[in-house]
Amino acid sequence: MTEQNFPRLKNDQILRAIKGDDVDKVPVWIMRQAGRYLEEFRELRKKHDFFEICQTPELACEITLQPINRFDLDCSIIFSDILVIPQAMGLTVEMRPGVGPVLPQPLTDPSHMSRLKMPNVEVELGYVGKAITLTRHKLEGKVPLIGFAGAPWTLMGYMIQGGGSSTMAQARSWLYKYPNESHKLLQMITDVLVDYLVMQVKSGAQLLQVFESHGNFLNDELFKKYSLKYFIQINKEVKRKLSSLNIPQVPMIAFPKGATLNSIEIFAKEAGYDVIGLDWTVDPKDIRERVGPNITLQGNMDPCALYSSEEEVRQRAEKMVRDFGKHRYIANLGHGILPDTPIKSVEAFIEGIHSV
Ligand code: CP3
Repeated sequence: MTEQNFPRLKNDQILRAIKGDDVDKVPVWIMRQAGRYLEEFRELRKKHDFFEICQTPELACEITLQPINRFDLDCSIIFSDILVIPQAMGLTVEMRPGVGPVLPQPLTDPSHMSRLKMPNVEVELGYVGKAITLTRHKLEGKVPLIGFAGAPWTLMGYMIQGGGSSTMAQARSWLYKYPNESHKLLQMITDVLVDYLVMQVKSGAQLLQVFESHGNFLNDELFKKYSLKYFIQINKEVKRKLSSLNIPQVPMIAFPKGATLNSIEIFAKEAGYDVIGLDWTVDPKDIRERVGPNITLQGNMDPCALYSSEEEVRQRAEKMVRDFGKHRYIANLGHGILPDTPIKSVEAFIEGIHSV
């Protein structure tokens, strides 16, 4: 697919913010904007299994558009999940209601890595590409579309723990007990991710976001060795492959959630990403001072702040924009929106951002 085949983009505010151009309004999107807080999502979800939706381009497209049809958002993100990568590499992943993702046969020992395969992403994950292409057409250029993936360390965590964990103790133990095997696993995941992200751009993704949701488990030493290293590779290799295919580059967003301020600062200087996503623990003015003026920041209101009154949500949104400033800034939450968030709060959040 080449850009000429798609409808012309009408709202490029997020792309302008990333280039450092002036924006009419600060662009805003919401992590997990297509999700359970929307009754139209819950309705569709009653009828279909989570991964069935991911694997059916018409359904993934319909859900991606739900928040765009309802709210004045400036960007869409394709409906899928970071765990489609472990699936494509041969592991079973189930999404259990009320529990979250479960991998019944995790890698409890490095010898289990022999169970992993290196998938041809165009074949095994072609359904994501099809969903992206279809969604680009159905968006009719209203807003840009983000493609995404989980970062290697975050995926390694799920593959070893077999699901979510409050400590990631087994995955972290691997880093000390089996450093060589850990690097081997992270490299395998990285190689798959590069092809997967390139495939998403080929299919029509206009930006890419890489989620390091388990960044909070790494100190500066571990972050550098096991996260930053692979982020750098992903950025370089995606750029190299796009360029060798004569496909225009797209902005790259990294979300090193929970990383230390030192790690975020080093990341901003060394990783080569256009945008850094921040969680709600990071102070806007402090981080801007640390990373300098030339990188775009994204975030970071506490998703739980959406449970305060509408008036307070609006005021907090305005204050967040004033604290970050309108230059090189994309408004978002500091993590995914929670399932029982009131719709009115989401409206107040977006209005507050756009009113500054
Ligand atoms: O943002 C969007 O609207 C796009 C869709 C999207 C989903 N997952 C859909 C989803 C995106 C970008 C993700 C990314 C993702 N998935 C991450 C990285 C971001 C983050 O939250 O840190 C992670 C860690 C996952 C893995 C995952 N998927 C978990 C831990 C869970 C369970 C937690 C929960 O919120 O229930 C999921 C399930 C999931 N992924 C749901 C949705 C809409 C809810 C599942 C359901 O409908 O049953």
